[in-house]
Amino acid sequence: MQIPGPSEIKAKSALEHGVAITRTAAERWDEQMRAWQQCQAATGRRGLSAWESARAARRYWEQVCSYQQERLNFLISRLQPAAGKRILDIGSGPGVMAIPLAESGARVTAVDPSPAMLELLKHIATERGVAGINCLAGRWEELDTLQHLDGNLPYQAVVASLSLLMVGIRDCLLKMMQACSSGGKIYLLWGRGKNHWTEQLSQLYPELYGFQYLPKPGAGLLLEVVLELREGLAGSKTNENCRKSAGCDLPSALPEVEAEEVDFIYRESFDSATEALAHFLDYFGVEEADRPRVAIIEEFLRRNLKTHNGSLLLEHPLPALLITISI
Ligand SMILES: C[S@@+](CC[C@H](N)C(=O)[O-])C[C@H]1O[C@@H](n2cnc3c(N)ncnc32)[C@H](O)[C@@H]1O
Repeated sequence: MQIPGPSEIKAKSALEHGVAITRTAAERWDEQMRAWQQCQAATGRRGLSAWESARAARRYWEQVCSYQQERLNFLISRLQPAAGKRILDIGSGPGVMAIPLAESGARVTAVDPSPAMLELLKHIATERGVAGINCLAGRWEELDTLQHLDGNLPYQAVVASLSLLMVGIRDCLLKMMQACSSGGKIYLLWGRGKNHWTEQLSQLYPELYGFQYLPKPGAGLLLEVVLELREGLAGSKTNENCRKSAGCDLPSALPEVEAEEVDFIYRESFDSATEALAHFLDYFGVEEADRPRVAIIEEFLRRNLKTHNGSLLLEHPLPALLITISI
């Protein structure tokens, strides 16, 4: 993929909109992520994320291992695990990558704010006799890299797959660069904006909650943030400021940035229509007694579930971008 410089992107957007764009890409990312978080909070659902309960963690593990193997294999092949390789997995979930990486001999640090996800990761690692995974509970933006990360620092590879639910993205990326050794790589996998699922949510939110769905910022904007950061590091003055604000070593050479469009299929399966309904009532925070809203979910399931080998499958394209930053 041909990558434009951030100034080119800004100039193009300014021309398209007929206005001078003054906000940085990082500010636009933070604004959109905050808006998405507020939109989620306004639904009044129990948890802000779908990953907080032990049941959700177990389901995530089972579903991703069964139906998203293609995505996992793709990322694992990029990470090139080897005996003793130090890998940082940010937003590890229940270890869908951390466990196979450690099985290949890598020394993995798994960071995740969900205690249920990390509990399950430890449980599965013990069950499989996998050593070499260190778990750190917390949001990436809140962790003090140097104090909290373990003896694995600096990492030869850092990965954040579908987990950049972060405000303060610029500092989050700088922290990843600090954690990565010279010659190491950072891999960011993130959705390329509008897709079938976000279209479904855009239709469902007004019906279920009475307001519009606000999407997360997309991978195009993430790429702008990364390039903006790189451009910032290029100016020696900014470089100094970055170093000061980061409070520790940043790469002395300019990181190289590559972006690759990858198209996966998101799949989730259910044994029965009753199981699917219970899952989505919980997901959307709808009570069984709330008949009008239950009917909306039933209609959504009728439109989207397919029968496959005796079970019900929810399937939609997951267009994503893999951004690789070589330090
Ligand atoms: C969609 S799952 C992705 C899990 C795994 N990386 C994968 O590729 O399947 C997102 C994970 O990111 C975690 N997460 C959310 N916000 C985070 C943050 N600010 N810092 C670190 N992890 C975060 C969630 O708890 C969840 O386990």
